[in-house]
Amino acid sequence: MNGMDVLIVGSGGREHALALSLAECESVNHVHSCPGNAGTAISGSNHQVDAMDIEGIINLAQNLSVDLVVVGPEAPLVAGLSDRLNEVGIPCFGPNSEGAQLEGSKLYAKEVMQSINVPTAGLIVIENIDRIDESLNSYSPPWVVKRDVLAGGKGVVVTTDRDEAFNALKEGVLLDGKVLLEEFLSGEEASVLVVMDESGYVCLPASQDHKRLLEGDTGPNTGGMGAYAPAPVYTPAVEQRTLSEIIEPMHHHLRNQAVPYRGCLYVGLMIDENGAPFVVEFNVRFGDPETQVTLPLISSDLGELLMACAKGKISEYDYTSYPYSSATVVLSSEGYPSSSVTGRIIHGAETSIEEGEIRAFVHFAGANISDDGDLISSGGRVLSATGIAPDLALAVEAAYEVIENIELEGSYFRKDIAHKGL
Ligand code: AMP
Ligand code: GLY
Repeated sequence: MNGMDVLIVGSGGREHALALSLAECESVNHVHSCPGNAGTAISGSNHQVDAMDIEGIINLAQNLSVDLVVVGPEAPLVAGLSDRLNEVGIPCFGPNSEGAQLEGSKLYAKEVMQSINVPTAGLIVIENIDRIDESLNSYSPPWVVKRDVLAGGKGVVVTTDRDEAFNALKEGVLLDGKVLLEEFLSGEEASVLVVMDESGYVCLPASQDHKRLLEGDTGPNTGGMGAYAPAPVYTPAVEQRTLSEIIEPMHHHLRNQAVPYRGCLYVGLMIDENGAPFVVEFNVRFGDPETQVTLPLISSDLGELLMACAKGKISEYDYTSYPYSSATVVLSSEGYPSSSVTGRIIHGAETSIEEGEIRAFVHFAGANISDDGDLISSGGRVLSATGIAPDLALAVEAAYEVIENIELEGSYFRKDIAHKGL
């Protein structure tokens, strides 16, 4: 069989995970990435086209005659990359700009959820600074303030400090003309990645990420310091409720749009003490670092899955998974997340483990090859070490064995990734 040529858009750990898994597929001939990183360069070829350069990506995809484009981050989807690929007849994994509004506008996502009774936190939309005080009285602390813009995970403030909440709300109104005050949900979070088109959907193993910088889930929010899967909090009973109360109604809604949704719907859940699931957020793409722990658990052909989704044929796909657990531990640059020192040489990243059913290796993120041929840091989250094993404890142990071998001046990683799941 002649394999497909695939173009991955993006340059993070998620994109390296996609490149690694796709490169192993029987259905795939070659993996291109734009702009890619040090990892995608090993799994295939990098092309220096920015992920937001829509016309540049169209030209690249046409010049390379790729069979499929897989879009990693949300911003190009919101900006209409999938719509343009559709116009030129290239299959795209990732929704059109309207579908991408589920992530592009938190208010839009709320309106969809409210219209079809999907459980989520209550909210007040504030457009006038005079209304802030009375709105804060409507909910007990902690207060959850969200800007209604794509903010790369940095648009949310959760605080018990009334002045901080007030200032965040005021800033939102001044910057954007409106801001959202949400009811606080307590419980445990889990991420469910659902690959969806109009014909059906496939739910990948639920994972849990660690958004806070420091151990014990404290410190500032980050893009994610580690993740593990499957997440035990997502019990069969919780899964059943999530399917019937959230995923089924969302699928029914999205399949009936003028242009049906084709891509990953990332369902960010809060599961309360009674096992009731609530949607904290939707994303319209794979999660990062959730992808690094999720894709290695898929045993069926990922290339075929993404292509089936891009063509609206998921119902014909046979999904299978491995009975394994996985964990990934992120190594960040000095100063992350407020700033990041980059350009430093990384040693030891070639370390990997392969012992029977236990595997561990590095997923690169903000790492590139310098003009001198050195592996150097180029972003806040530099790489992560991922372990895969028959049980979570072994997967975590393998991931730490790899990361402890890596040297990068000033770098940091959390020592307690997956502890909640152990
Ligand atoms: P979001 O970008 O909407 O996912 O928010 C980022 C993080 O803020 C989430 O992963 C949660 O940890 C927290 N968060 C957001 N909304 C709520 C809420 N309504 N209640 C409690 N925590 C929340
Ligand atoms: N790990 C959270 C996200 O991808 O949005």
